[in-house]
Amino acid sequence: MCGIIGATGGEDVLDVLLDGLARLEYRGYDSAGVALELPRPANATSGPADGVPLWRARAASGTTSLDELRKVAHVAPKGALAGIGHTRWATHGRPSEANAHPHLDCTATVAVVHNGIVENCRELAEELIASGHELASETDTEVVAHLIEGELRRSSEPALDRTSQVGEEGRLAGAMRAVIGRLRGSFALAAIWAGEPGTIVAARRVSPLVIGAADSAVAGGSSQVLLASDIPAILGRARRFLLVEDDQVAELRPGSVAVTTVDGMPVDPPELRVDWDLDAALKGGFEDFMSKELHEQPRALADTLLGRVLPAGTLALDEVRISDDELREVDKVFVVACGSSYHAGLVAKYAIEHWARLPVEIDIASEFRYRDPVLDHRTLVVGVSQSGETLDTIQAVRAARQCGAKVLAVSNVVDSSMARQADGVLYTRAGPEVGVASTKTYLAQLAALDILALYLAQLRGILYPHEVRRLLDDLGEMPSLVEEVLGRSGDVLAVARSQRNTRDFFFLGRHVGYPVALEGALKAKELAYVRAEAYPAGELKHGPIALIEPGTVVVGVATRTRLWEKMMANIAEVRSRGATVVLVANDGDEEAGAMADSVLWVPAANPLLAPLVDVVPLQLFAYHLARLSGYDVDRPRNLAKTVTVE
Ligand code: M6R
Repeated sequence: MCGIIGATGGEDVLDVLLDGLARLEYRGYDSAGVALELPRPANATSGPADGVPLWRARAASGTTSLDELRKVAHVAPKGALAGIGHTRWATHGRPSEANAHPHLDCTATVAVVHNGIVENCRELAEELIASGHELASETDTEVVAHLIEGELRRSSEPALDRTSQVGEEGRLAGAMRAVIGRLRGSFALAAIWAGEPGTIVAARRVSPLVIGAADSAVAGGSSQVLLASDIPAILGRARRFLLVEDDQVAELRPGSVAVTTVDGMPVDPPELRVDWDLDAALKGGFEDFMSKELHEQPRALADTLLGRVLPAGTLALDEVRISDDELREVDKVFVVACGSSYHAGLVAKYAIEHWARLPVEIDIASEFRYRDPVLDHRTLVVGVSQSGETLDTIQAVRAARQCGAKVLAVSNVVDSSMARQADGVLYTRAGPEVGVASTKTYLAQLAALDILALYLAQLRGILYPHEVRRLLDDLGEMPSLVEEVLGRSGDVLAVARSQRNTRDFFFLGRHVGYPVALEGALKAKELAYVRAEAYPAGELKHGPIALIEPGTVVVGVATRTRLWEKMMANIAEVRSRGATVVLVANDGDEEAGAMADSVLWVPAANPLLAPLVDVVPLQLFAYHLARLSGYDVDRPRNLAKTVTVE
């Protein structure tokens, strides 16, 4: 998740870009950069050949990237006609100045910023290199600048039926239309070209893009026109907002916006009414970051799945720097993690054992290295950490490597400490998470670990290709199922209201429902400050059932997964002792409904993938419980987002 911004017209293009980047920093801060289009010298003739080069500045120093960029930008030439800017959350290529956007073409007259993932960047890069282009970064974005360069060159070649060269206006948009037709994946792109001064061309597919303008600009006046990944970045400068739909291309010039389809047909972009103040806008119109991040979960899932499946339907994990032969040799998997990441690992144990038929041990990272685990070169240790900076997990994977095991990191942060120490990395692509309670990063971890399980199954020949494909299809449905559950937040609020005075909860689950119960209980503890104990439901009768008395609240994960009948028998046991029962159950499951005082309904999913859906009402339940008590859901007491002490 990166942030892009652009501005054309007005006296303050650079200031607009830098201010907008500050507001977009929540989308990533691995690097920041701007490119400006400067006025032509008075003696220049028209035509791209006379286009003055663009001015570009970039900085890549983590959280201080933008400060560093401001220092460099201090010396920028004045009077920029237009400019684009970017703040990066690395996905392809490590955080570095060379990988920082904007990226340039070979002639340094085209600059491009991008949010999203170009899935077919490798094949495009090979093609570009073969035709003489020189690529300067490891990013998926740079190919776009070079492809635009190629299209511009093609459009300047005299055609047989034309005596004069075509005019410059519209050529950049034409090039962009041709280029996006060749891209697979997701993108919000903005490009400037020195041959078409004052014009920014933008395009999108899946990734967000909004255009902003003062009233007069949209009506054809002469005001500044802006674009950004989100509204807050340009709020206060723009009064009217236009939405660009998938595979549309927008041409921004001072005082005008023209949008066309990929085939060049003009379209009227829908206008968005915005009456937020800035604070609300930074949270995307949500009350808090947690709510915003809960609603970003479908996107986080979709992005994490993107590009992992080859056109033939098989899996490809290009960031895993452990060879397939080495992975085939693996005879045992350990997962080490803390907190929510540990719960994601517990779900993965079921998936890896079932699909890949490999034994899996799962350990709390802070315990792992002190218990003398038996590891060797055939052991795969998977460290799961959204931040990649949790000291307990880092120490655990370090110890594993010292014992000769292969280490794979599952991390949300490119080049995090854990990623750097591992033999391979599988990145989740949830974007930065501000709320202390993990939500979207947890869901993205579940998806990434499912992909790993399927990859191992494919490599070991345990599943047939058509079985892997079917499971991938099921996985592909998860974003929309999660979206559906998020739409039921009001129903969850009603259940939370009925439990607002409860101080003690039991969370029960079986099979993959057990880690879901653990995660639901952790969310309730850390956000609503209630006692919430999670148990495998079958274990209750071995002791904890002594605590069940009339009025005890039991939250059960009772979707139709493998042990549903046994789970219902356990629910009957607590009901008969007077417990109040709240169940997570599948839509239309009347039998489950009849066993509960309240139901959190969810759509049915593939049983091993169900945790991705079933956990969402429990996240919402904890969120609403906390808010009903007036607690700060973004910064729960006593907690830090990243725990870098033992
Ligand atoms: O960054 P990590 O995934 O390594 O963090 C692990 C835990 O500290 C984290 O999951 C913590 O439990 C969260 N507060 C859960 O919401």
